[in-house]
Amino acid sequence: MDVSRRRFLATAGLVTAAAAVPGRLLAELEKRTPPLPDLSRWSDVKAMFSLAPGLLHFSSFFIVSHPRPVREAIDAYRAVIDANPLIELESRMFQSEDKSIFNEIYRAAAPYMGCRADEIALTPNTTTGLALVYHGLPLAGGDEILVTAHDHYVHHEAARTAAARAGATTRRIALYDDPAKVSVAEVAARVERAISPATRIFGATWVHSSTGVRLPVRAIADELQRVNAGRDPARQVVFVLDGVHGFGCTDESAAQLGADFFSAGTHKWMLAPRGTGVLWGRADRWPLLRPTIPSFASLSAYLAWQDGKPPGPTTAADVAPGGFLAYEHQWAMTAAFRLHEKLGRARVAARIRQLNDQLKRGLAAMKHVRLHTPMDPALSAGIACFEVEGMKPEAVVAKLLEKKIVASTSPYKVTYARLAPSLVNDEREVDAALRAVRELSAT
Ligand SMILES: Cc1ncc(COP(=O)(O)O)c(C=O)c1O
Repeated sequence: MDVSRRRFLATAGLVTAAAAVPGRLLAELEKRTPPLPDLSRWSDVKAMFSLAPGLLHFSSFFIVSHPRPVREAIDAYRAVIDANPLIELESRMFQSEDKSIFNEIYRAAAPYMGCRADEIALTPNTTTGLALVYHGLPLAGGDEILVTAHDHYVHHEAARTAAARAGATTRRIALYDDPAKVSVAEVAARVERAISPATRIFGATWVHSSTGVRLPVRAIADELQRVNAGRDPARQVVFVLDGVHGFGCTDESAAQLGADFFSAGTHKWMLAPRGTGVLWGRADRWPLLRPTIPSFASLSAYLAWQDGKPPGPTTAADVAPGGFLAYEHQWAMTAAFRLHEKLGRARVAARIRQLNDQLKRGLAAMKHVRLHTPMDPALSAGIACFEVEGMKPEAVVAKLLEKKIVASTSPYKVTYARLAPSLVNDEREVDAALRAVRELSAT
């Protein structure tokens, strides 16, 4: 154990008790969390969710229903924390950086995200990760944050408030006019045209919850790389991506997409506990950020504070927001990454694509329906957005609920009805949803 940390624990009188805990905690957890079952059949995967029967749930991307292994991990962690809150937290989080439970989570997430464990900060959700990036990046009067017209409210607001604080400005650009006809070339050309000498941050969203469009992130990153090649290193454009609706439903590594920072809640497609998320940053970009919220995951920040010294260059751990949390949820993130690893990222993506293809083909064939999401699987993911002739999206969702289909509307100025087939659904349920939409023509 680090000397300063030992001193810290010793003042709390915990060294002896804490040293004995990790082995016991692990044994306790293993007893309470059975190994993952055979998940080769999708029906067995679907059965892991305890969603209300009698409804067909097509809005799981909104907020997760915990699958069984995640519920079990939460319950197990909750039981050990309830039995011994102080000792369990001290031993798991503060005993040593190497053995900290944060590392266990980073190590579970890193292979899935295609990055090093020390490039990830744990956050409670997408929103917090975006705010930490926008408010942490250096901005000055005259600088501009360029975002897209397709980003979520929380993204625009994180950018706007950060810009306002720095005397900078924000601007929005549309990357397409008709989502159903979006193309890689059009998106790249619009980004190229929109970047100005004042642009310091470009913010975008991987999969749009407004239209279901999945952006060609690599093409955008290539464009930005060309821009940055001609710029002073101190004035490079930083690429910030809201990745939440591509994370856990596509077969791409978040850290390999081409963005500089990637924020995603893990409480949607990743099936991790509610109130959890990740913020990834390129190793050489983390030092750009000023931490906003004091971290509990950074021993060096704690030691610098203790010694009254300035902290070193910012690391991912420095940016992870501290303050005590519902740790049974955060710690159980590992169970979700292990579940995805067992299921296979490519296999999950193929399944979600198959169900979405079935849904979109069916919707596109209906004369009274206008599908706004592209058919091309490279430009879409797990969300299908559509309109029914003569009906407001809210009315479509209400009528579908009468037919036991849980759909949603997109929370944007221009709003559509959304159905999002996922691992909680199967082909029969997609057919039932299509039947229900078909019947809307007669109402
Ligand atoms: C594109 C997008 N970004 C961010 C959010 C907010 O996500 P979180 O709850 O993880 O902050 C949402 C909401 O569902 C969203 O659709």
